[in-house]
Amino acid sequence: MTERVSRLINGLAQTRRLILEEYQELIDSRNPETAQALAERAVAERKNIYGNAVYVRGLIEISNICKNDCLYCGIRRGNPHCDRYRLTPKQIMECVEEGYGLGFRTFVLQGGEDPHFTDEVLCGLVHDIKCRHPDCAVTLSMGERSRDSYQRLREAGADRYLLRHETADRAHYGRLHPPEMSFDDRMRCLQELRELGYQVGCGFMVGSPYQTSATLAKDLKFVEEFKPDMCGIGPFVPHKDTPFRDCPAGTVELTCFLLSIIRLIYPPVLLPATTALGTIHPEGRELGILAGANVVMPNLSPVATRKKYELYDNKICTGEESAQCKDCLSARMRSVGYEIVTDRGDVKK
Ligand code: SAM
Ligand code: FES
Repeated sequence: MTERVSRLINGLAQTRRLILEEYQELIDSRNPETAQALAERAVAERKNIYGNAVYVRGLIEISNICKNDCLYCGIRRGNPHCDRYRLTPKQIMECVEEGYGLGFRTFVLQGGEDPHFTDEVLCGLVHDIKCRHPDCAVTLSMGERSRDSYQRLREAGADRYLLRHETADRAHYGRLHPPEMSFDDRMRCLQELRELGYQVGCGFMVGSPYQTSATLAKDLKFVEEFKPDMCGIGPFVPHKDTPFRDCPAGTVELTCFLLSIIRLIYPPVLLPATTALGTIHPEGRELGILAGANVVMPNLSPVATRKKYELYDNKICTGEESAQCKDCLSARMRSVGYEIVTDRGDVKK
């Protein structure tokens, strides 16, 4: 490792920040040795705060109907081959009950921007889950909504909200989304969620089309400034029925490198080892944990709909029962020296 890179890593670990050009340089000059050095420091930081605990979140994919047309996404409205579904409140509550029995204390309701899920419908669901299980956290990941809507959902009991910023570079954002979607709207939503008292998650895909080390440096700067409670980063994986079908997938190597940097930028951050990471490598999620991640999200959706929530090709965990999925992840985490913890797993700031 050059003295220069070693100085960048030390500087990052001590001050929790770099300037844009330094982030870019760190990314461009990466090699197995620098990745190892960053991962060791990231793991030490995480151990300090979270020990060897890995938090689980029960993911319920409530609808694959979406009014948006993000160019990368398999459930975009422009994909006529997507077999659409929407879970009923009864089905969603069944998933919650099953998850509760398995020990889950956080439920993530995720879906496309499906107009059926009005404030009334979603607030009803959040309220029901919190009434039945006051010891649980409810996380929503339902895309962009109005401030008023976020406020109602918060008042109904939602604790956390995941909304990836996707890229912190305005021009790059424009190349990943149709013209009617805007970078400013996305940023506004994230600010409003924070103001309303949610624990907020941002994030981005690694290796998305047109991404460069310069756009990634902006993502890292955004994370440094926003200090998200959660940060979802996983590789871009192409979907056969999208305009990006022929684009290459992101790599495990760069994803893990960035996970380590993000842990060093903001040590308390809750950082998932994503399903997408497990999709591009058989031990992707274990490698994510070893790079500094500390969250996994087993799938609690009904087996019959899992394949239909196909954001990208070859998504894993689509044939497993919820209990199998959780047991599988517990075993995987144990194999690398970590223990799954089933409490709410709030951020420890
Ligand atoms: N509609 C909500 C939203 O937009 O936040 C939640 C669902 S959306 C499908 C969840 C995330 O999936 C997106 O933020 C995006 O980063 C990720 N995603 C979509 N297509 C992907 C792909 N082809 N490869 C990897 N991740 C993808
Ligand atoms: Fe879902 Fe392994 S994590 S089956």
